[in-house]
Amino acid sequence: MNAVAFNGSPRKGGNTEILIKKVLAELEAEGIDTEIVQIGGKALRGCVACMKCVERKNKQCAIESDDMNKYIKKALEADIIILGSPTYFTDVSAEMKALIDRLGFVSRMGGNLLQNKIGVAVVAVRRGGATHTFDTMNHLFQISSMIIVGSTYWNFGLGREKGEVENDKEAMENMADLGKRIAWLAKKIKV
Ligand SMILES: Cc1cc2nc3c(=O)[nH]c(=O)nc-3n(C[C@H](O)[C@H](O)[C@H](O)COP(=O)(O)O)c2cc1C
Repeated sequence: MNAVAFNGSPRKGGNTEILIKKVLAELEAEGIDTEIVQIGGKALRGCVACMKCVERKNKQCAIESDDMNKYIKKALEADIIILGSPTYFTDVSAEMKALIDRLGFVSRMGGNLLQNKIGVAVVAVRRGGATHTFDTMNHLFQISSMIIVGSTYWNFGLGREKGEVENDKEAMENMADLGKRIAWLAKKIKV
């Protein structure tokens, strides 16, 4: 069993990454393989609506000038997909939106390739817009027939500067619980 977590923040070691790692630690404790894939800060373009994925149905995006196909492959090979984003103007980062649109369209046009995978969103936020950012990522899971895992609160942590999210005790506990819930469910459905 394996989990891939996409970090949509360009800040390496930032709050989004800290939240993701808290979730992954629980998965690793349960013997689930994990990987963090850094997409924030990478040159990723948005969907160009070329509709080649509709024709080709080859599990790939027709844009070959960036690394999106590498990320799509990792998502399609994972049992558990975690999307992590900072809140930027009350929404996900541009890189995360590019992943959602291009992975989502390739999956849907290829026959719902993400179906039955577990999906989880986590958000870093200074003050406002976390639930909207959370919703944006959950939209991919919901339209893709994926299974969303709950925890004890909506999955966001408060902080501005790198590392500040560690002071949000409730968020860190929520992330640990979230990891436990994912592992519990994954073992039930992916034996
Ligand atoms: C371009 C930009 C836009 C932001 N917009 C918001 C916002 O709408 N609401 C908010 O609370 N914080 C906002 N922030 C702050 C970040 O969400 C916050 O610092 C977060 O912890 C960053 O996560 P990171 O450390 O993983 O990069 C913004 C930061 C940047 C750089």
